[in-house]
Amino acid sequence: MAIIKNNSPVLFFYNDSKKWLAKISKKESFHTHIGVLKHADAIGKEYGSRLMTNKDKYVYLLEPTMYDYVMKIKHGTQIVYPKDIGYIVARAGIGDGQKILEIGTGSGSLTSFVANIVKPRGHVYTFDVDENFMKIAEKNIKKAGVSKYVTQHNMDLKTAKKMPLEDMDVAFIDLGDPWTVIPQVRQMLKGSGCLFAICPTMNQLEKLTIALVENEFTDIESTEHIIRTIEAREGKTRHSFQGIGHTTYLCFARKAFFGREARKAAEKLKLSEAPSETPLKIAKKTAFKTDSRASAKDTSTKTASSKTAKKATKKSV
Ligand SMILES: C[S@@+](CC[C@H](N)C(=O)[O-])C[C@H]1O[C@@H](n2cnc3c(N)ncnc32)[C@H](O)[C@@H]1O
Repeated sequence: MAIIKNNSPVLFFYNDSKKWLAKISKKESFHTHIGVLKHADAIGKEYGSRLMTNKDKYVYLLEPTMYDYVMKIKHGTQIVYPKDIGYIVARAGIGDGQKILEIGTGSGSLTSFVANIVKPRGHVYTFDVDENFMKIAEKNIKKAGVSKYVTQHNMDLKTAKKMPLEDMDVAFIDLGDPWTVIPQVRQMLKGSGCLFAICPTMNQLEKLTIALVENEFTDIESTEHIIRTIEAREGKTRHSFQGIGHTTYLCFARKAFFGREARKAAEKLKLSEAPSETPLKIAKKTAFKTDSRASAKDTSTKTASSKTAKKATKKSV
């Protein structure tokens, strides 16, 4: 049985739009439009119990989940919401023990949620360039109880000479120009590691996708996640009147090896070999190429090509 004590976190729940997150402190009271709630009255009660205000209204004493912390987070910036985090976690297969890189800590919403999943063996390494946002995030992360699993860095990876991490399982990017850090992220991700970027506009998605292909990422997918709330009541269940037209887009990709480096190296090798090759060798190679292409189509062409090649060989010698 989970009993509320002094210092326990509690979500005072009246309805979906009236709910308050607090840490119980026996000397404190809570003044709301539905009356006063004394923290001391919650101590000793089981989570889920209800408490009456001095205006005879009931609130439920709920044990906060990470969803509640994120929905009540102090905003320094725009945040990633649970509807998107749910998909991010599922698509990237986030789990205990993983090492997560995040660029753009913001208010620490995604950071806290993910740290809560990768703990106790995993860790989130998060980077931001704005010290004020970092302080807000630090408080939010602490409030969510996951500080131990998060390391905050005040660093701009765009201009960093050496990447501070390697072999990351997953990377998140939540910046205005995510395409600018794709080469850096690639260096820090393990092969086949997952990347998620949060893009409020389609223009960002386009630029990002181009950068992802250039930097050898595969399984690229862009999505938007809209939740439609249903007001379910006996005999009159329908969609809620409040709808969201647009939130943000998510772009997912995985680090791959297209073999470009190997091809480039082979090309380079061929070029550097070229001067040392004798004209005879070069002519023989050319003849072989002509032969093999022709053989697939027409044998008469093949004979002609071989003759031409032989002539060329004689001339070169
Ligand atoms: C939209 S917020 C991120 C919100 C965050 N995902 C959340 O859920 O709370 C974007 C953040 O990116 C940070 N930022 C901008 N440029 C950056 C850079 N080059 N490196 C790291 N962070 C950067 C901003 O300071 C801001 O805090």
